[in-house]
Amino acid sequence: MKFFIDTANLSEIQTAHDLGILDGVTTNPSLMAKEGISGKNNIYSHYKAICDIVSGDVSAEVISTDLEGMIREAEELVEIAPNIVIKIPMTEDGLKAIKKLSDEGIKTNCTLIFNAGQALLAAKAGATYVSPFLGRLDDIGHDGLELVSQITTIYRNYNIETEVLAASIRHTTHLLECAEIGADVATCPLKVFLQMLKHPLTDIGLAQFLADHKKMNG
Ligand code: G3P
Repeated sequence: MKFFIDTANLSEIQTAHDLGILDGVTTNPSLMAKEGISGKNNIYSHYKAICDIVSGDVSAEVISTDLEGMIREAEELVEIAPNIVIKIPMTEDGLKAIKKLSDEGIKTNCTLIFNAGQALLAAKAGATYVSPFLGRLDDIGHDGLELVSQITTIYRNYNIETEVLAASIRHTTHLLECAEIGADVATCPLKVFLQMLKHPLTDIGLAQFLADHKKMNG
């Protein structure tokens, strides 16, 4: 399973990278805004700074809603670094853009996936990744993990190469259940990775080891 970090915060990206566990990054316009990044030049420079830290795939989302605009943005974004993946929303024009970019060999991540039909369409159009937002489904009383499972099963049934990128992950249980389901990628905030490395018995055990060593060695 690949681990991506879902943030545009450079220090968090660096921290996850330094842990040695990071395979890529996902961003979106809300995450860029959270970092106070605005204006095309600043946004593109920020993507460059992310790609300087991480050699794995970095999703950069288009903000155009029409096909022509999406393609124009995608062509500019891929010039930033070779590991840029174009993140495109699940709309009619988005689907057409995914098909066109995929035909040109440009990697895409189809975002805002909330049902398996959308995921199947994105795969048919040639998306490299699909991003089901499981936390947001849970927020409205649906079962986000069930969607991840359904998409994974459908893709396996037909040997579909599109990777299931479980997104909107809120806690370690989400991540571990996605791993059990067999999702290809989990993208989550840094805090989920940090929560996952903690266990109180690890802390207690380590304190005991060090105390015993000190007793004998001063
Ligand atoms: O990658 C998708 C993600 O950014 C959405 O997460 O927590 O805003 O639902 P969230």
